Amino acid sequence: MSVPTAKPLSQPEVIHIDLGERSYDILIGPEVAFNASGYVAAPKSTTAVVVTNTTVAPLYLDRLLKTLSMRHKTVHHVVLPDGEAYKTWDSLNQIFTALLEKACDRKTVLYALGGGVVGDMTGFAAACYMRGVPFVQVPTTLLSQVDSSVGGKTAINHPAGKNMIGAFYQPEVVLCDTDVLRTLPERELSAGLAEVIKYGPIADMAFLEWVEQNMAGLRSMDQARLVHAIRRSCEIKADVVSKDEREGGLRAILNFGHTFGHAIEAGMGYGNWLHGEAVGCGMVMGALLSHKLGLVDMAFVERLKAVVKAAGLPVVAPVIDERQNVERYLALMQNDKKSEAGQIKFVVVDGQGSAFVKSAPGTMVREVIDESCSGG
Ligand code: NAD
Ligand code: GLY
Repeated sequence: MSVPTAKPLSQPEVIHIDLGERSYDILIGPEVAFNASGYVAAPKSTTAVVVTNTTVAPLYLDRLLKTLSMRHKTVHHVVLPDGEAYKTWDSLNQIFTALLEKACDRKTVLYALGGGVVGDMTGFAAACYMRGVPFVQVPTTLLSQVDSSVGGKTAINHPAGKNMIGAFYQPEVVLCDTDVLRTLPERELSAGLAEVIKYGPIADMAFLEWVEQNMAGLRSMDQARLVHAIRRSCEIKADVVSKDEREGGLRAILNFGHTFGHAIEAGMGYGNWLHGEAVGCGMVMGALLSHKLGLVDMAFVERLKAVVKAAGLPVVAPVIDERQNVERYLALMQNDKKSEAGQIKFVVVDGQGSAFVKSAPGTMVREVIDESCSGG
């Protein structure tokens, strides 16, 4: 195996995300969430509020509160219900209510302790509360460490579409603690691997090969392999985001598999298919569309399907409507944020480590949905 380890595991890897005055660091390694030195980039305000959920709180809240008490005089916390189905206005309002009840001022720092759901909602709350307060990401799932905590996309869902209400708002620092992944259920680890796999076909085929070769080690949570996978994923994301923070163009490539994936998530009911599961299957559909557009051969589609499957993820798309399945997919995909003037756009790949956004003939998209739902 080849696991590049430039530093001993006790020292965190640091990735810088270059966004001018909104620049920040991502720290990766064991115990970084509970080491006070990781928090020096967070403003040293009097008050802090940790936002977490009912699953993560019993595992890590006390330790984080203790760590933060070295930096802030008062540390409050808000515990939200767990799940994608709670990524809503109601949950967001619970955060605002707590902030107002505790008389939190505009210097208050918010800490997101949890996966992508908690991170996206806390970031959005930070963007809105008193027109913006600082926040720190303490991502506790693989998916949030390699993707959602980095880059400043914050949002809640709307019944008509995923992540439709939100803001671009960057954190002060991101602390990716690889130790906390030990309590992550296997299904959630697999979901995170979908986003890790994604970085290969869109930006670095050598990384895809590394992921293929190291999948067993990643699934057994080998720390060195996890640190490498998180570091390379964050490097690629940091590079893309620093070139196109607000998704004027290039950043859309990070959405490979997401147009189909978001339709699966919404169509199945939020929370039934995990985001990463939908993205994994969506990438296989995206690869098939790339093939139909003449960009990759069928061997590439099979290769991607094999690595997604090896990660423990589904590769056959679900039927989301017994009578009008394709129509339902198309209707949900119309709501994708990449759509322009009603035309659905897809991220497609060239098999050489590059991706771009393209529309596709309706008949082709219908074929992809039909074939993917029947496992063809
Ligand atoms: P999640 O936040 O729902 O977390 C998954 C599950 O794991 C939850 O039940 C959670 O409570 C639990 N959990 C979290 N940490 C744990 C730990 N250490 N041990 C045990 N259990 C733990 O899901 P996710 O996969 O982290 O994130 C998915 C969300 O992220 C989606 O809402 C998606 O839209 C969003 N997302 C956002 C971006 C972005 O750029 N902002 C990118 C990708 C995904
Ligand atoms: N996860 C896609 C993005 O951050 O742009």
